[in-house]
Amino acid sequence: MGTTNNQLRHIAIIMDGNGRWAQKHGLPRNVGHQKGAETVLEIARAAKEMGVKYLTLYAFSTENWKRSPEEVEGLMNLLRNYLSRNFKQLAQEDVRILFIGERQMLASDIQKQMQHLEQTTENNKSATLLVALSYGARQEIVQAARLLAEKVKSGDILSKDIDEKTFSDMLYTKGVPDPDLLIRTSGEQRLSNYLLWQMAYTEFFFTPTYWPDFTKDELKNIIEQFQQRERRYGKA
Ligand code: FPP
Repeated sequence: MGTTNNQLRHIAIIMDGNGRWAQKHGLPRNVGHQKGAETVLEIARAAKEMGVKYLTLYAFSTENWKRSPEEVEGLMNLLRNYLSRNFKQLAQEDVRILFIGERQMLASDIQKQMQHLEQTTENNKSATLLVALSYGARQEIVQAARLLAEKVKSGDILSKDIDEKTFSDMLYTKGVPDPDLLIRTSGEQRLSNYLLWQMAYTEFFFTPTYWPDFTKDELKNIIEQFQQRERRYGKA
């Protein structure tokens, strides 16, 4: 086998296990989310230092709205804090910040802060952090189909000209290369409606570590294993 030096432009992460981490320590679930939020900053910085150009984090899924009102409220307040403090720090470190998901579902003050961060970091070049908020991949694909249907109806495009590229360009991730590597923490091994279109050829890694305990060293270790994998994209 040996090192194949796979290109690693984009890492996608499912940050799972905050609740179980809290339970293990006899703490409320929201303390787990707070600890998890600290890990976000550490990992975003580490990925950038390692030269990874794109990092996408699953912070809140469309399905997460079904959690208890207290937990959703706690996550939203954490997000408010994050938008005004931690993300701002990353913005000052030349990180571009983008949000993907159904943003109209979020409170208007949160939407405003998101838009402000996107605008002010537009020209940042060192790395791009995509934060999936109120995100669901099937919903993303459905809205892309709807947008294309409207374009066909208005005569902007012919249905025979719809190909993978035109379709991809209707997704929230327009212009972003597909993830090379997916990491899911906490031992669960499923996709949970995350980047379904974009992960057609992504390499998957699952670690039992709960997200609040995930470290830069573990990320490095996973990247080393990723480099040993042979990616064939369906070729022999
Ligand atoms: C999964 O753990 C995690 C979430 C649903 C939220 C992820 C949020 C953070 C890491 C913190 C907030 C991030 C930002 C960017 C503000 P879980 O609650 O499903 O854990 P469990 O499966 O052990 O219950």
